[in-house]
Formats: sequence, C-alpha cells, structure tokens
Amino acid sequence: MSCLHYRDHELYVEHVSLTNLAREFGTPCYLYSRNAIEKNFCAFMEAFAEIPHRLCYAVKSNSNIAILQLLASMDAGFDIVSLGELQRIIAAGGHPKKVVFSGVGKSSHDIEEAIKLGIFCFNVESEPELERIAKLAANQNKTVDIMLRINPDIDAKTHSYISTGLRDNKFGMELADLIPLFNKIGGISSVRLIGIGSHIGSQITELEPFLLAMDHLLVIYATLKEQGIKIRYINIGGGLGITYRNENPPSVQEYAHALQKKLGSLPLTLIVEPGRSIIGNAGVLLTRIEYIKTSGDKRFAIADAGMNDLLRPALYNAWQDIMPVVKRHEPKLQYDIAGPVCESSDFLGKERELAIEPGDLLAIDCAGAYGFCMSSNYNSRCRPPEILVSGHEAYLIRRRETIEDTIALEQLVME
Ligand code: LLP
Repeated sequence: MSCLHYRDHELYVEHVSLTNLAREFGTPCYLYSRNAIEKNFCAFMEAFAEIPHRLCYAVKSNSNIAILQLLASMDAGFDIVSLGELQRIIAAGGHPKKVVFSGVGKSSHDIEEAIKLGIFCFNVESEPELERIAKLAANQNKTVDIMLRINPDIDAKTHSYISTGLRDNKFGMELADLIPLFNKIGGISSVRLIGIGSHIGSQITELEPFLLAMDHLLVIYATLKEQGIKIRYINIGGGLGITYRNENPPSVQEYAHALQKKLGSLPLTLIVEPGRSIIGNAGVLLTRIEYIKTSGDKRFAIADAGMNDLLRPALYNAWQDIMPVVKRHEPKLQYDIAGPVCESSDFLGKERELAIEPGDLLAIDCAGAYGFCMSSNYNSRCRPPEILVSGHEAYLIRRRETIEDTIALEQLVME
C-alpha cells in the first residue's frame, strides 16, 4: 500500500500536501512517511513475535541516518554489506552488536574494522573469505562469530539482476563445498560457527522459494547436528516483495507463519533481513514536469527527475506508479515520463495515462527502497534532498547537494 492519499484531488503524505513540500524543498526530492516505516517494522515485530528471532534491516535499501535512527529506536538489528554502512549505523546511534555483515567482497580493512567495532557476526560467502576473517580475527586475538551463506540453487522467480540464490549467481556456497568447510572451521580457534543462511533474491512475491530455501537450510542443520556441530541461528535473508503494480506478495504474517511451521520447535533463532518491505512503500520521489513534447505519435513528459535520481526503471525496467499531485479533470492522454539525462534509458515510466500540463507535479510511488541510495551525479546533476514527514511536520534529513559539494573532491592539475 502506498503512503500517499488524495484529499480533495490533492496528494498528501500523512498530513502534509505534496504541493507544499515541493514549495518548501523544491523538486526533485525524496519524501518518506515516518508512520509508514513504523507500521511496516511493527508488522514484522508482531508477525515474528512467537518465533525466537532477530530483525536485521537491510541498510542497503535506504541508508539515510535519520531512517536508521528511527529503526534503531525500534530495536532493529541491521544487515550491512560495507564498513560505510556500519559507520552510518553508529552515526545514527545504532549498536554494532546488532549487525550482521553480508556481501561477497568484504575487504580486509572492512573486516578488521568490523571486528574492532564488535559486530554480531559475519555472513561468510566463500572459503577464501573465511580464511581472511580467521586470520584478521587471530591478529586481534579475537574469536568472531560467523554464519555460512548457502547458495541453494533456487529460482526466486524475480528479475534476473536481483536473483541471488541460483548456482550461476556469485553469492553463497554450494552444498558440496560446505561439508568439508564445517570440519575446517572446527579446527580454527579465531572463528566460531553459529549459523547458516541464504538470501535468494529480492522482490520475491511467492512463499514457495523461501520455503524451499528453508528446507535446504534445515537439511544442513540436521546434517551438522548428526556430526555433533551445534548451531543456533538460521538466516533466511531478505527478499519479501511489495506491490508496485499488481503483484500480490504474501503478507508478513503469512510469511512468518509459514517459516514458523517449518522451524517447529527446533532450538533455533531466525534471522530476517528485510529491506524493501520496510521502506519501499514508505517513500516517493516528487518531480515536476518541465516540458511536454511530441515525436510522431508519441508524447513525452520531461520531468526534472531522471535515472540518476531513480535508477530502477532504467536498470530493471521496473514499473512504479506515477501519480499527479493535483488531479486535473481534462481527458487523459498517453505519455512516456522521461528525465533530463542524455540516455534513452532515462525514463521513469512508459505509456502512462495522465492528464498533465508543464509545471505539474508528479509523485513516483514506492521509491523508498533502492531509490536515493542508488542515485548518482551522472550528467553533473546534484542529488535530491530527502524529507521525513511525521504527522503535520516535515524534516529535512538530507539537504540538496550543490555543485560545490560534488566538485570539492576534485583537483585541477594545470598551473
Ligand atoms: N540480505 C541480503 C544479503 C541482500 O543481499 C539483500 C538485498 C537483502 C537482505 C534485502 O533484500 P530486500 O528485503 O530489500 O529484498 N536494487 C534492487 C534490489 C537489490 C537487492 C540486493 N540485496 C532493486 O531496486 O530492486
């Protein structure tokens, strides 16, 4: 469900109109609803209440420190893929003890610092990574907790770019490689195996792939138990999809209930790493139409936001709803909503039926996850501000970039 609603033909987030937000903060800008974030997170807390669990918000989906602070205040744990994400959590007042470190390419520096800062555990994705962590932990005279990420070779039935649990994907380890590794870990004093996990993809709209992954994990758990190796955690990753258009993903309750059934009374704590399902529908990108132009039979509305601000349509051909901020009564016409960037892939939506004029505001819905955090300065465009709306208030949680911000890191070389 969107965090937007119409009041007298005008779009609002909570009690603030988007027209007023555009006036105050300019466009393009990202808007988030605090209430929607809290509601989404509470839905997870309630659904998993009966299962021993840890909810680790996937920081990559939206890493603004105000949002991390909000989630930390609700006792969230965090799933990270870089030291930068860990530093953001600390800046937001979150605790490293609640952090799970995932990712296939952890650098030595990132690992060293994460060990120093005392994270909860590493999700290990390969044998060389295990060796690196073991060595770096030994250098600090520490024993660190690890979980192994399994690649269960399951089709998550999502876009191929965000599918991660197939053998052809670079993530996790094959079952055949795992068994010898378990024995190897037993002989290393600087690491302790506490769990196993998988993350099979993102924007998954069916339960079945998650349950198949869980079956795989439970078979491994049983094998380990037979060998006298005890683990306490099963990490099912993130991936629960949301409704962008007409997808019908399982509810958080259905998801939790189905996982609970699989786990039964096993003495295990479940780790869940939701990103999109916490922040996706809690954010929108607000943009203004600069021009309307035609080319043959085609009509284009050129907006002031482009693929550098919101990459998902260009990268994944993703569909996100585009809503007029003030509804017009004129008949609707078909438009491609494009941005100002010099690429034909620079579109926000294609073939949309809208009644619009130049100067009108549009809201791109469900842009809270993988929106701002995937933005760039391509075409020397300054990244948009981010605003958190709470009730009648709007807080600037990241100011608009200036060209000086972006040039500041560069250096002239000619005299
Ligand atoms: N855990 C791990 C290990 C992950 O790799 C991911 C996402 C998550 C959790 C969170 O998954 P979520 O609950 O958000 O689906 N940029 C793409 C999505 C990439 C997801 C990558 N991994 C998009 O815009 O659709």
